[in-house]
Amino acid sequence: MKVCRTIADVRAGCRELRAGSKLVGLVPTMGALHEGHLSLVRAAKAKSDVVVASIFVNPTQFGPSEDFAKYPRTFDADCAALEKEAVDIIFAPAVEEMYPPGESTWVTVEGLSEKLDGLSRPGHFRGVTTIVAKLFHVIEPDLAFFGQKDAAQIAIIRRMVRDLNFRVEIVACPIVREPDGLALSSRNAYLNSEDRRRALVLSRSLGEVEKTLRAGEQSVKRLAQLGRSVIAQEPEVHLDYIAIVDPDTLEPVEAISRRTLVAVAAYVGSTRLIDNVVLSP
Ligand code: PAJ
Repeated sequence: MKVCRTIADVRAGCRELRAGSKLVGLVPTMGALHEGHLSLVRAAKAKSDVVVASIFVNPTQFGPSEDFAKYPRTFDADCAALEKEAVDIIFAPAVEEMYPPGESTWVTVEGLSEKLDGLSRPGHFRGVTTIVAKLFHVIEPDLAFFGQKDAAQIAIIRRMVRDLNFRVEIVACPIVREPDGLALSSRNAYLNSEDRRRALVLSRSLGEVEKTLRAGEQSVKRLAQLGRSVIAQEPEVHLDYIAIVDPDTLEPVEAISRRTLVAVAAYVGSTRLIDNVVLSP
């Protein structure tokens, strides 16, 4: 496994390994790796010949009052975990390598970027699409693997790939959860044991919505209201949004007549967590 710190180095490494038209799979991450990330790596290993994982805590996707400075950084443990999965290349650039002084170019998917998390995290998705576009240019992957955990991120990246004609296939991988239902997240490390228990209300609310739909409830309004009332059972958890939307356009749906995304975001103490489920009629 090669660890590359510069764009020139990772380009040379990819060029060497892809010789003979091998398929390159990219798994972009911000590190603090857990089983959710590793599930993407395993999917990449299964579908590609060469696997590149990037580890980069991307400053442009954090707001000024968000957790960029305290975001968990566990580089040595991450390298060990990726080595165990037989990843070929780790790309772990410094901030100045990805954003040279005076950098002033952004990639923005207009409209979609202002929905769901984009509403309460202005500029977040612009930061995501800018760094992902840069990673696509540098690594030139044939396949790129993202978690369904960040459902809006997937919709926005798919739109960017289509609109800017990137030659990459986006592969969405299922959400990995703890046995009790909590979706794995690097930010779960911020939770004390009481908050960890409270955080279960996110997956519980989605489970109740799904169960009630299965039992015949058709009204999107009532399903959303149910989700909100379950979250309200934990007074220390503050709902940001619960949205029932089309998974591609992120527009609210009138009825659950096709695949529908139910997404929730909430603050557990000061930690913002997200979760979702995709329902079909
Ligand atoms: P990060 O939060 O580190 O997540 C990296 C990838 O792991 C994302 O595609 C995310 O959806 C996936 N992931 C996280 N938790 C998961 C879980 N429980 N199950 C399945 N997949 C999970 O998302 C980012 O980083 C950044 O925005 C990035 C795309 C790297 C751009 O900076």
